[in-house]
Amino acid sequence: MRKLSFVVLAALGVLSLPVQADVDAAKQLVKQYAALVKGVDATYTLNAEAGRAFYIKKHEVKGKQVSCSDCHTDNPVNPGKHSKTGKTIASLSPVVNPDRFSKMKKTEEQFDEHCVDVLSRGCTSKEKGDYIVYLLSLSK
Ligand code: HEC
Repeated sequence: MRKLSFVVLAALGVLSLPVQADVDAAKQLVKQYAALVKGVDATYTLNAEAGRAFYIKKHEVKGKQVSCSDCHTDNPVNPGKHSKTGKTIASLSPVVNPDRFSKMKKTEEQFDEHCVDVLSRGCTSKEKGDYIVYLLSLSK
């Protein structure tokens, strides 16, 4: 009996840990961006309003108006839809999708790719940090 409850607890632990750990991973990433931002602008505090503004802002690319929300939708808690292929994109918010921002390398690659697609340049640490703060501020 004792052994069984240990197994059950272990299983529960394994199931419940990643969710917590991954919101933590996103928060950890915010800290890293905040540290980088401090180096450039010591008075700036990463914030959700700037992240939201960045997220919905339209940019002209080859005569078209594009924004992050084109694919990730107006509310990034919801699943997204690729503007070209129509494919469903899992929610970007770590609040509902624990996989997001849990792998630094992947996150950086996606940022690089999508920022260039939308802004025609890489995103700054300020933009990335604000963006994740915004995603973390959303409720389910
Ligand atoms: C043309 C469609 C499209 C647009 C526009 C777009 N994205 Fe994405 N984005 C995707 C897709 C598809 C994925 C999912 C890739 C995956 O999970 O394998 C994704 C995933 C991401 C991720 C990965 C997060 C993680 O750690 O898993 C980040 C960060 C991201 N996008 C940022 C942005 C930002 C910032 C913008 C605007 C500057 C943007 N995206 C605009 C299609 C798009």
